[in-house]
Amino acid sequence: MPTVLITGASSGIGAAIARALAPRHDLILVARRADRLTALATELGPRHRTIAADLADHAGLAAVVSGVAELDVLVNNAGVFALANGDAITAEHLDGLWRINVNAPMLLTAALLPRLRAGGSVINVSSAVVENAFTSCGAYTASKCALEGWSRVLREELRPRRIRVGILAPGATDTEVWPPEFAGAERSRMVRAADVAEAARMMIEAPPATSFDRIAVTPSSGAI
Ligand SMILES: NC(=O)c1ccc[n+]([C@@H]2O[C@H](COP(=O)([O-])OP(=O)(O)OC[C@H]3O[C@@H](n4cnc5c(N)ncnc54)[C@H](OP(=O)(O)O)[C@@H]3O)[C@@H](O)[C@H]2O)c1
Repeated sequence: MPTVLITGASSGIGAAIARALAPRHDLILVARRADRLTALATELGPRHRTIAADLADHAGLAAVVSGVAELDVLVNNAGVFALANGDAITAEHLDGLWRINVNAPMLLTAALLPRLRAGGSVINVSSAVVENAFTSCGAYTASKCALEGWSRVLREELRPRRIRVGILAPGATDTEVWPPEFAGAERSRMVRAADVAEAARMMIEAPPATSFDRIAVTPSSGAI
């Protein structure tokens, strides 16, 4: 079965992608919370394994890379969401977002590319913020714009190797990223993580001649 590495698999969209892919793929589940990863791997079955690592630092990235021989699909899903108005952005705020939303996917992909088999894919989880402006989301939006810019270049670089690069851009999705006080009344309008995962499954299982370059999955009642 094809091997798929999913970052940020301990909750939300990453865990949902794992559930959607588990029947037809061998999964490597990556995040910091080992207990969550183990519980998910137990739920999904013995073919699947976990690597607990902090992708914000080089040791964590190295631990993931050393735990992988060959793979077919890399899903760069791990991400952090933090708010600050333009006049409140600090170096620490930027660094926290950039390490996970930009540096981790770029560095992990660079290290794993030699082990990625022809016919496979890289899926980068971006956000609807790239196309819609939300106040206080400036640094987060910039990080996802960077992710998408890099993804488009990587797509061209990998065409000769028959590796596809897909951008998955969810709108507001019902996960732990939304604090209860914010999500409250809006939660029922949000996209379900399982439905974002279905889009990821479609991208990964697309026929070899087809690339779903970018899929946006948004709340049908409008942006939140
Ligand atoms: N929910 C939304 O409305 C929404 C909308 C657009 C885009 N997105 C994007 O979707 C992706 C998944 O978000 P989500 O909503 O599913 O949020 P989530 O439930 O908070 O999931 C985030 C995942 O990233 C992992 N992660 C965070 N920091 C990490 C680190 N330093 N090292 C390793 N793993 C780390 C977390 O695992 P650990 O804490 O266990 O490490 C967790 O599994 C993100 O890229 C996010 O930007 C979400």
